Amino acid sequence: MKTAIKDELINEAKRVRQNAYAPYSKFKVGAAVLGEDSKIYTGCNVENVALGLSICAERSAIVHAFSEGCRHMTHIAIVTDHNTPCSPCGICRQVLYEFNPDMIVYLANLEGQVIEKTAKELLPLAFERLRLE
Ligand code: THU
Repeated sequence: MKTAIKDELINEAKRVRQNAYAPYSKFKVGAAVLGEDSKIYTGCNVENVALGLSICAERSAIVHAFSEGCRHMTHIAIVTDHNTPCSPCGICRQVLYEFNPDMIVYLANLEGQVIEKTAKELLPLAFERLRLE
């Protein structure tokens, strides 16, 4: 069962990676999150000529989940075409942590390498305040 989820998320992240808009970096990223509603929500990076406006694939997937009413996620797969699986940027780590510090994070590349971590492993000593919801 666990392997099925992992493979499905990685395959979905691979599929949506092709939709990434990355004309500036040429670095396409795909992400797929599993909501606690058992649905998969995908996202890809979308860049902008004003480079600081670019959105990463991970946040794109989380925002997609929220827009469909899903507020808690259990797993995420992130796929890049790199010789080693890439790890999320600092901003995305904080965003993953917000919605589930125990979220399982699969970092994968197109060669089939996969590294498994949790959001809290990726962001030790995370910034935390009172949660309002
Ligand atoms: N990128 C992601 O989508 N996720 C990350 O965690 C790191 C970086 C994107 C942003 C930009 O479009 C491209 O990869 C190069 O940095």
